[in-house]
Amino acid sequence: MQLPPKPSASMRIQQLRWALSPMSYMDECAQKHGDMFRLQLGKDISLVFTSNPDAIQTILTNDTKDFSAPGELNNAFEPLFGKHSLITISGKEHQRQRQLLMPPLHGERMRSYGEIIENITSKVIQNQQLGKSFSLRNVTQTITLQVMMQAVFGLFDSPRARRIEKLLGDILDATSSPLMMAVTYFPILGRIITPFHPARHALDWQQEADNLLYEEIRDKRSLMPEAYRRQNPDASRSDILSLLMAAEDEYGNPMTDVELRDELITLLVAGHETTATAIAWAIYYIHKYPHIKSHLLTELATAGDNPDSNVIFKLPYLNAVCNETLRIHPVAMLTFPRKVEVPVSLCGYDLEAGTVIYGSIYLSHRRPDLYPNPDEFKPERFLEKQFSSFEFLPFGGGVRRCIGLAFAQFEMKLVLAKILASVDLELVTKGKVFPVRRGLVSGQNRTIQMLVKSRNSINSGILLGV
Ligand code: HEM
Repeated sequence: MQLPPKPSASMRIQQLRWALSPMSYMDECAQKHGDMFRLQLGKDISLVFTSNPDAIQTILTNDTKDFSAPGELNNAFEPLFGKHSLITISGKEHQRQRQLLMPPLHGERMRSYGEIIENITSKVIQNQQLGKSFSLRNVTQTITLQVMMQAVFGLFDSPRARRIEKLLGDILDATSSPLMMAVTYFPILGRIITPFHPARHALDWQQEADNLLYEEIRDKRSLMPEAYRRQNPDASRSDILSLLMAAEDEYGNPMTDVELRDELITLLVAGHETTATAIAWAIYYIHKYPHIKSHLLTELATAGDNPDSNVIFKLPYLNAVCNETLRIHPVAMLTFPRKVEVPVSLCGYDLEAGTVIYGSIYLSHRRPDLYPNPDEFKPERFLEKQFSSFEFLPFGGGVRRCIGLAFAQFEMKLVLAKILASVDLELVTKGKVFPVRRGLVSGQNRTIQMLVKSRNSINSGILLGV
């Protein structure tokens, strides 16, 4: 039996390198061992990683037969998302929840958020003072979180929504550093660091956020204090919470408040963190390379004075810029883990039943055979060649493929188009910016500072009429 190769370093060293610098560690392993390798990340935990498109296709498209995607393997998400999150549930329950959540994040329902995305972007960007630098990530995070609050609750501007927004931002900032990841492998480190680290407040913040989410579910603003939004359904509301509250399982039972809370927080967090990082990278590259910005502005101008969201969504160069952003810095470095159900042979290696395997999105997107000069930001790649769903897979694939894929792409394009149309930005941060671990996903290693050089006049010709 030939198992995939693994580094010769001790388990402790492997854990430390994985926690602190997963991307350079994956690069090193791929260089040494090729398309498939193992890491020893616990006493009995040996995980397999692959960047081979055929192997990725096999593990993602044979879900439920030779491979499964059990929610138990995602238990790292449980402390924040709970046991009833789409990410932590499995099988039939998982399928049912996905079917429920798909419609509001796709098609006409999704497009109805166009105007909201435009208004929120406009408000947040116009709030930045002329000539004064601002943190790009803060701006994109504010936009995407407010958009998700609106999609999930149907409101983003109430004091309760503002407080939830602040608490979620604080929790993620405090708990997402590589150091905090290292604590999960080295609890002793936690005992030394945590008393002085903002993460010590995370549980209190989470408790407060939970209370506010339950208040929103029960709608304490109602005239009848005990009246739940679900008992007084408002047919005019199309937000995700209203939809989930109206849903029943096959026995006619509605979702419990705890189930609702878990699903809501999952969508709020998974739906804004990733997109905020991706939009920040895109704005960074657009302003780092003036020829890309001018190409985009020309394309937007040709879309006419008042292009609607569908026109923007289909602009080829804007699409290529978004794809190249998600290729060069895939926010999710890995697919969720898959479990081998029956012994298989992949890439010439034998995998026993029970083996846990990840598709490395990060490594796949850096394969020189697919993407020559992979470190170069070159949107033209996506105009010159069509990549398969297992060569370019920023949103994963198979039964756990990102449920927000369409929403994220729609939002990215509208936010970028709106910002380019309304302000002329300058990149203040000089020097290299590179991706680092941010919790279970990736983010920028430093704060990217931008400033507003000028505001474009209302009649500049690139106004968006979404
Ligand atoms: C640029 C933005 C985003 C990226 C790069 C991204 C990436 C991913 C990836 C790689 C997966 C795992 C897929 C797999 O294992 O096959 C995933 C799952 C998921 N994403 Fe996203 N995502 C983004 C935006 C969003 C948005 C906007 C939402 C919600 C509106 C969302 C909600 C979810 C959920 C709930 C799952 C779990 C799906 C399941 O377990 O069935 N994501 N995402």
